[in-house]
Amino acid sequence: MPKQTVETAPIELKTIEAKPITAAMGAEISGVDLSKPLSEKQAAEIKQALQTFLVLTFKDQDLTPERHVNLAKYFGSPEVHPIVQGMEGYPEIIKVIKNPGETTQFGDSWHSDNSFFESPTTATILHAQEVPPVGGDTLFSNMYLAYDHLSEGMQKLIDPLVAIHSASDAYNPVKLAHKYRGEAAMKYNYSDVVEQQVEHPMVCTHPETGRKFLYVNRMFTVTIKGMTPKESKPLLDFLTEHALQPEFQCRIRWSDKAVTMWENRTTMHYAMNDYYQYRRIMHRITVNDGIRPSA
Ligand code: SIN
Repeated sequence: MPKQTVETAPIELKTIEAKPITAAMGAEISGVDLSKPLSEKQAAEIKQALQTFLVLTFKDQDLTPERHVNLAKYFGSPEVHPIVQGMEGYPEIIKVIKNPGETTQFGDSWHSDNSFFESPTTATILHAQEVPPVGGDTLFSNMYLAYDHLSEGMQKLIDPLVAIHSASDAYNPVKLAHKYRGEAAMKYNYSDVVEQQVEHPMVCTHPETGRKFLYVNRMFTVTIKGMTPKESKPLLDFLTEHALQPEFQCRIRWSDKAVTMWENRTTMHYAMNDYYQYRRIMHRITVNDGIRPSA
């Protein structure tokens, strides 16, 4: 049924090994110690694997915050989040934390990180500090496959459309007042960015692969340009539902010290909120290449 899967696009790697996770996306990478500086060849092969598999996971990586920042720099410029407060001394690192008994989890709705930026995050690198004994997986969906599997008629309909992205709901200052007041483990700072509305083509072409991908997500895509929210909703709902077919997905089961990085624009992800009684802590860095998504 899939028109193209990772198995039909093998790549030759010499400095790392990649074991695909599903036919749709994701690979377990071995043979590299991310706590050490990468050789040019290693960095190039990790980038190549990232463009092919979209999600890469590496077991047991001893990264200090400093080394995490240095690692991120191979893939773009580390971003400082305009709303979520970074770690003391490392403003680029967000401590994604859920304490036992907390009912909400950062990232527990399908999204692509920071799609409400004019130039959205290009890749995200998450390092597991403390993981629950079970639960807290991260799920991913491949937005190239989502586009490829639309009918020609639907592709023609959405190719020229522009979607509006905004953080106004996900970072709503009223709903999340306790985070803005600094009373939760994750602290938010109010910024005009919360209310900003940013336009991106609904179908983008990746600058490196030249392939088209669907660029909408449930958390930040609010309307379609030129349409009312009521008119936009059925189409946005259809497209996000369509993009979340299990055949387009992979799922990462975390272990302590694992690193997972993802190609952020061509994927959506979802952090499972199913470990109520446990703590989970991740260090997250997002990087940016400064390129605006284009049709
Ligand atoms: C995120 O949405 O960036 C965090 C994902 C996770 O914690 O698994």
